[in-house]
Amino acid sequence: MQLRKLHIRNFKNLEDEVLEIDSGITCFVGENGTCKTNLLDAIYYLSMCRSAVGQTESQCVKTGEDFFGLQAEYLDRNLRMQYLSATYTRQGKKCFKFNDTSYTRLSDHIGVIPVVIISPMDNDLINDAAEQRRHFFDQFISQIDRNYLRALIRYSTALSQRNSLLKGNFTEEILSIYDVQLSHEADTIFRVRKDVIERVFPMLAQFYGVISGHKERVSLAYRSALTKAPLTELLLECRERDRVMQYTTQGVHRDDFLFSINDVQLRKFGSQGQQKSFIIALKLAQSLILSELSGEKPILLLDDIFDKLDETRVRNMMQILSSGDFGQIFITDCNHNRIKRVMDDINADYKIVDVEFGKIVREINAI
Ligand SMILES: Nc1ncnc2c1ncn2[C@@H]1O[C@H](COP(=O)(O)OP(=O)(O)OP(=O)(O)O)[C@@H](O)[C@H]1O
Ligand SMILES: [Mg+2]
Repeated sequence: MQLRKLHIRNFKNLEDEVLEIDSGITCFVGENGTCKTNLLDAIYYLSMCRSAVGQTESQCVKTGEDFFGLQAEYLDRNLRMQYLSATYTRQGKKCFKFNDTSYTRLSDHIGVIPVVIISPMDNDLINDAAEQRRHFFDQFISQIDRNYLRALIRYSTALSQRNSLLKGNFTEEILSIYDVQLSHEADTIFRVRKDVIERVFPMLAQFYGVISGHKERVSLAYRSALTKAPLTELLLECRERDRVMQYTTQGVHRDDFLFSINDVQLRKFGSQGQQKSFIIALKLAQSLILSELSGEKPILLLDDIFDKLDETRVRNMMQILSSGDFGQIFITDCNHNRIKRVMDDINADYKIVDVEFGKIVREINAI
């Protein structure tokens, strides 16, 4: 799917802006605090039904207004136009319409217009607790496997019910019912996570190799207690401990993913540029896998992508991006001359869109 037209109403600081988009690379360029990330977030919202920067819908409504609306036209791979609108009112009403049909379940929309974002917030993926990494892989897999998303939802419901039981009076029989439910969903989640990591790793290693000029080696490992035994057994083993702790101490909600560089932890020993290169390689691998499995090349949103990277890495990364393996690309930068220089260096169609506070001011096509 390629985004061809976007009409934004009252989304953050964008009051009423219309953007016509070409198939190549679109670069949003402007000073700090103008609206570059907001434009990417509007595109992300249309695909994922939520903000990429963790803001609630009511925080996305322009200050002083009581709704936001996003209307978009996409060209699908059969060259047919598809129409999508998303609206939210401060009363809490959220509505997504695809070609005039409203979704009853928003989860049905996830994956219809695949998207991958790389942003400065991705540092959390390396530095924060395991929850961030699980969240990333869950979002990623949910775009390609609806059964996985449903298993996750059922797992998390059963988990909170089991945890509330552990806080009150319960019988062994009732706990066993939840153990069976949890284990059934956990089997699916564990199997799919394992398969996805096996697919991601070789691509991640290859992209990282190219970006770093093959100077460094990275690895990615999936850590889960379910590698040792099925969850039914683990839950029985830890029942006594769960009773004391009053929550479920084993399960796929405790899984983690380990990122390393030259066999040491990326979080502790990776430099900022190495960490950024890892994230880029990981997300590019994500994008390729999404396109292999869904048949749609995801829209790539690259926010502040050049920050922390040296010129060689920027050039290597841009070579990968211009290979034709990726779909439509949006890039933000605050330096007009730099982006022009970088874009002129690669063989790709691009368009620079100059922005000011809440406004699109000028669109320049490459000549
Ligand atoms: N709900 C809202 N209503 C009005 N303005 C908002 C709202 N949410 C965010 N903004 C404003 O949008 C402005 C632009 O934010 P954005 O993150 O897009 O900037 P940016 O161009 O990406 O800047 P930087 O180069 O620093 O990353 C900010 O100044 C912010 O105050
Ligand atoms: Mg920004």
